Amino acid sequence: MSLDPQNSPAVTSVPAGAAAPSPLVPAPFSYRDGDLYCDDVRLSEIAAAAGTPCYVYGAAGIRDRYLAYRDALVGVPHAICYAVKANSSLAILRLLAELGAGFDIVSGGELFRVLRAGGDPAKVVFSGVGKAESEIAYALNQGIHSFNCESESELLLLAATARGMGTRARVSLRVNPDVDANTHPYISTGLQEHKFGIPFPEARRLYTQYRGDPGIEWVGVSCHIGSQILDVSPLVEAVEKVLALASDLRAEGIPIQEVDIGGGLGIAYRPQEEPTAIPSFIAQVLEKFRLSGFSLAVEPGRSLVAESGVLLTRVLHLKPGSDRNFVIVDAAMNDLIRPVLYHAHHEIAPLTLRPSQPLVADVVGPVCESGDFFARKRTLPEVSQGEWLAICAAGAYGFSLSSNYNARPRAAEVLVEGATWRVVRERESWEDLIRGESF
Ligand code: LLP
Repeated sequence: MSLDPQNSPAVTSVPAGAAAPSPLVPAPFSYRDGDLYCDDVRLSEIAAAAGTPCYVYGAAGIRDRYLAYRDALVGVPHAICYAVKANSSLAILRLLAELGAGFDIVSGGELFRVLRAGGDPAKVVFSGVGKAESEIAYALNQGIHSFNCESESELLLLAATARGMGTRARVSLRVNPDVDANTHPYISTGLQEHKFGIPFPEARRLYTQYRGDPGIEWVGVSCHIGSQILDVSPLVEAVEKVLALASDLRAEGIPIQEVDIGGGLGIAYRPQEEPTAIPSFIAQVLEKFRLSGFSLAVEPGRSLVAESGVLLTRVLHLKPGSDRNFVIVDAAMNDLIRPVLYHAHHEIAPLTLRPSQPLVADVVGPVCESGDFFARKRTLPEVSQGEWLAICAAGAYGFSLSSNYNARPRAAEVLVEGATWRVVRERESWEDLIRGESF
């Protein structure tokens, strides 16, 4: 920390002479001669031109991860439906649509975005516990692939809406396999205590009871047990249970064709985390699918986009304290809420590496909440006022969870393609903040 020696001394628990730890910067990010790059673009060039806070995404990284899923599924009837909620920016949706991806949506708004980005409605699955009639009608009109239905009440609405439109809704029931995903409680969804999915006995009843309904066409069975799953054994256990249910139903004459296993594969936010790699995860799933005859749908979000995004921010102030040092940056919890909402760890990397003494500090934003932090008691390389930092692995559930809290305009977004970059979402202006309001 470049501190005025007259100010209170920096509080540091790092032994003198110890080196600052190297931050984990996953591909497509890397240091070249001490400068942090995304593909072939120096991030400081983007920060200087586009301003901060600013999300930067590397197209190559997203493509590589999509292709890892696709290659692992070669020869198997499958659908890769990107979970739009992870990052619904048009440029990301377009990139994935061009690769042939399908989409997992949870609102009419997400369907609108997918269509605007050139996504194929015939590859869209509509998930979520609370679909409104207007959203169902919109999705039916657009001819989406199917609905993942989560309750009898919703099934009745799907059937009635479809009948009213003279069509049939293609439906899979999202079942609850009662498996613990061993992840943060807010992103765990596969236990009976959660609002998600239908217990197996009730699902069996619904499949049979509604098989003759002229508004319903059964498609498959779906599940999703949680997110940021590092050890995939609960996921594989859920797949096994759901496949057994699907086979029973088929034996009873219900025309089940596909099994949708949701998303959930985790990524390494910390250097010591070792998530299952995409090919190994899919191989374990296919092991269960072998000879089942069902087609496989997956709904990855985070594992496609998280590591290919960073949030660039600038150090506004250094504030030494008696208890701890604070590095105050221009991004805040409204830009990236994951640290306070899920106690999530994001590596913080300087855009330029230089020899320095390590510093222990809280990295915080300008928002008036003590929960407005990106890191607490983090050992960082020394930082100075005006310097840019990258908050890593922020491509998933970063911008999409951002808000205008404290009347802060939402950040700009940039997409890097090889050696070129472009702004794909302009920074919001103050006029944007009051659009549509009146008094
Ligand atoms: N399918 C369904 C039905 C989902 O609910 C989700 C995520 C996914 C797929 C994609 O899961 P993924 O592959 O990204 O793990 N905001 C939280 C994550 C919430 C996940 C919600 N559902 C976070 O920042 O960690």
